[in-house]
Amino acid sequence: MKNFDVIVVGSGIAGLNFALKSAEKSYRVLVITKSKIDDTGTRLAQGGIAAAIADYDHYKQHFNDTLEAGAFHNDKKAVTYLVKHGKEAIERLLEVGVKFNKKDGQLLLTREGGHRQRRVAFVADYTGLAIEEALVASVHKNKRITVLENTFVAELLIKNKKCYGVQILRDKKFENIFAKVTALATGGVGQIFEHTTNPGISTGDGLALAFRAGCKFKDLEFIQFHPTVFKFRGQTSFLISEAVRGEGAFLLNSKGKRFMVGKHPLAELAPRDIVARAIFEEEKNGSGFLDFRHKTTDYLQNRFPQIYKELAKSGFKMKKDLIPISPAAHYLCGGIKVDLKGKTSVKNLYAFGETACTGVHGANRLASNSLLEAIVFTNNVPKVNHSAFANRHSEFISESNHEILKPPQGGAQQVQDDATTTQKHQLAALRTNLQKTMWRNVGIVRNSTDLKKALKFAQSLLKKIHNAQTKESLELRNMAHAALLITKAALARKKSLGCHFTTI
Ligand code: SIN
Repeated sequence: MKNFDVIVVGSGIAGLNFALKSAEKSYRVLVITKSKIDDTGTRLAQGGIAAAIADYDHYKQHFNDTLEAGAFHNDKKAVTYLVKHGKEAIERLLEVGVKFNKKDGQLLLTREGGHRQRRVAFVADYTGLAIEEALVASVHKNKRITVLENTFVAELLIKNKKCYGVQILRDKKFENIFAKVTALATGGVGQIFEHTTNPGISTGDGLALAFRAGCKFKDLEFIQFHPTVFKFRGQTSFLISEAVRGEGAFLLNSKGKRFMVGKHPLAELAPRDIVARAIFEEEKNGSGFLDFRHKTTDYLQNRFPQIYKELAKSGFKMKKDLIPISPAAHYLCGGIKVDLKGKTSVKNLYAFGETACTGVHGANRLASNSLLEAIVFTNNVPKVNHSAFANRHSEFISESNHEILKPPQGGAQQVQDDATTTQKHQLAALRTNLQKTMWRNVGIVRNSTDLKKALKFAQSLLKKIHNAQTKESLELRNMAHAALLITKAALARKKSLGCHFTTI
């Protein structure tokens, strides 16, 4: 259990595809997840995966739409690589068993915000769930892949800017596991905000681990807020896919007016940052609503079964009612700086998916480009140098005095005391305060005074929990580090761009 060729931290689409691709090269792979294998952000992705595969489409159009949504801040080389590999990504998912919606044997394609063509392949309104299930099934069948669930990665094992593996916390014990390649695929940071579409596990762990390992970052200020999250009795709950607007739903204000018409040539299908800010403005005079009453009940139930059911639980019928919505933190467009192979600035350390920044999203991600990015950039795995491993391993063991490994140095060590109930309550209260502070001060519309307040909060929180030893406190420390990095990046960008909108 102590040595692997490849360690993957995270079990969403990027992590599992990288694990499977590594196993295809005969590498021994360990996948580590702090929760259950399928408790991921991927699972909640509704819309689909974008790829210019239709006869009427071309990757150059996909390229243009990606750049326009990204406020032309994107890395053009990375975008070209992404859009040119769209077909391959879809083929890969078909190969692992994803059953995309088809008609007469042809993939059906939908539209989302910022796309000038129908190019989003989907599985009803649960594309992410279908992908996650197919990947998990393939991983479970693969004898070269070991999965460790409920295991928290406390630190990366770093020495002289090289990564040697991870230090895990499992069953209240710290332990080091070594690998030639370590890949971070931990997903997003939505949980650092009060309102988010992300699951509870999205706490910026990858960012925080990479930060403490000395990695470089890029574009962290660009947090994408999804415009349409169901809001009921003052609480945001679940995402209502942009594909709903792609299939013709309108956005109305409290006066019943389509407020996106005239604001952007694509109206309701304008890039997400523009729609989210427009709703934010409308909310000052009431609410924003989705209106899909012009479709038949049959259509709504078949095309959007999960959304239909979820709304019905709160007493809303898509055919009859206006659906109250509000924006919520959705996606981190930047992340750990990587090249086209996923390499970070630390040797033997890779990053993929939402926690990484390849540069494809620019200042605002084009809808449904994230599942695409996760597959395209994990389809090629690095070569593992077998002979060098033994030396690097012993090199680390002999000098494992890196500060981050104290107090639990080296092998297995029992955590002295698990958190008491009172400590757990205190940590939960601190977590809520961080989420509220970030929402208020680093949200859809920002200014430097508020950003400084959030920075101060994150710094003081880090002081309070610098001695983190339990899963809860280590996770909160990661959230505080992620909040700090994002807020600093937002403070450094003085002018509005994409989803970073600042009034000063
Ligand atoms: C959605 O279905 O609206 C979300 C898809 C995405 O974020 O790409």
